[in-house]
Amino acid sequence: MQYRQIGGTEIVASTIAMGTWALGGWMWGGCDDSEAERAIYAALDAGVTLVDTAPIYGFGRSEETVGRALRNRRRDSVVLASKCGLYWSTEPLPPGNGEWHCYADDAGRTESLEKYVVYRWLRADVVRRGVEDSLRRLRTDYIDVMQVHHVSDRTTPISETMGVLEDLRREGKIRAIGISNANVDQFDEYFRHGVVDVLQERFSMLDRSVEKNGLLAKCCERGASFFAYSPLENGLLTGRVDPKREFKRGDLRLHKPKFSSENIARVNDALSALSEIAKRYDLTVGQLAVAWVASRYDKAFALCGARNPAQALENSIGSDVLLTSEEFDEIDAILDEFELLNRHF
Ligand SMILES: NC(=O)c1ccc[n+]([C@@H]2O[C@H](COP(=O)([O-])OP(=O)(O)OC[C@H]3O[C@@H](n4cnc5c(N)ncnc54)[C@H](OP(=O)(O)O)[C@@H]3O)[C@@H](O)[C@H]2O)c1
Repeated sequence: MQYRQIGGTEIVASTIAMGTWALGGWMWGGCDDSEAERAIYAALDAGVTLVDTAPIYGFGRSEETVGRALRNRRRDSVVLASKCGLYWSTEPLPPGNGEWHCYADDAGRTESLEKYVVYRWLRADVVRRGVEDSLRRLRTDYIDVMQVHHVSDRTTPISETMGVLEDLRREGKIRAIGISNANVDQFDEYFRHGVVDVLQERFSMLDRSVEKNGLLAKCCERGASFFAYSPLENGLLTGRVDPKREFKRGDLRLHKPKFSSENIARVNDALSALSEIAKRYDLTVGQLAVAWVASRYDKAFALCGARNPAQALENSIGSDVLLTSEEFDEIDAILDEFELLNRHF
């Protein structure tokens, strides 16, 4: 396992992180809590030290699972990354308070199907309360990396949000600040009011938007770390998704064109061709996809989601492999052959 420094901070974490979105159940067609805990143990036992979660993942459930799984571990053996600014309510927000985000009609819990309004709200007192709630669910008194989940809330200036995050850092409740789902202008604006240590965006062999929209270049320029989310394209790049797979109700992949039978088959064919490169390093194609992300930028971390110990273990291998520029070209040529390079879904 490789370990890298986070931004300009003293925090060092594994380049492969345990991503816990699916462990909340919501948007993933439910989840088994005890398998989820065991998945976290497996990742940690394999050398993963970075765990990424968020309050909105299962409406507190993912953070609670992480807190439970870590209760018997030394706190300083884990780098905890969570988020703020995305919350839920059974009532719509009064106008001028935050920004509507989406409706949630499936909490991923078997016992209830509640209707939530999910909203973004980055006002100082709301962020502070959100961080306190995360601390309680995670059973800790500090969070290593606190990230703004979606940077924009048209009712709050960025100066206010960054102000409270820097206050929380001074108070020792958080150690580093990150932002997610941003554009270059928002990234610059956050930097005008403090120091951003982490940028978290989608990034994989199949989705390279951050290389085109200037965000990755900006990250390099500012010395921030880059947390790449969905490096396995929600599992598609593991090569284990059967084109006939029927996703459960409430699984975000159910109606995505990326997960149409035709596209799954196309990706699986490309992955078969890529397996020749993976074999050179004794990797599976999924591990090659993770190595691709970790090799692309020396401050990159690959946030890999896993639902069970076997997935967590498989995903934790591959960060020691540094792909060469010739191999990047080889991979691009194969993806191009299958019309997957720069394909928009
Ligand atoms: N900031 C943001 O807005 C944002 C957005 C998305 C994600 N994230 C973070 O990034 C993390 C990772 O992203 P992600 O969860 O979207 O996707 P991902 O890592 O690309 O894919 C995770 C899913 O792929 C399948 N999978 C994983 N490893 C596997 C393996 N070895 N073999 C077979 N299947 C495997 C599992 O689903 P099945 O078993 O059901 O197939 C798993 O839930 C999240 O957990 C979260 O921490 C952040």
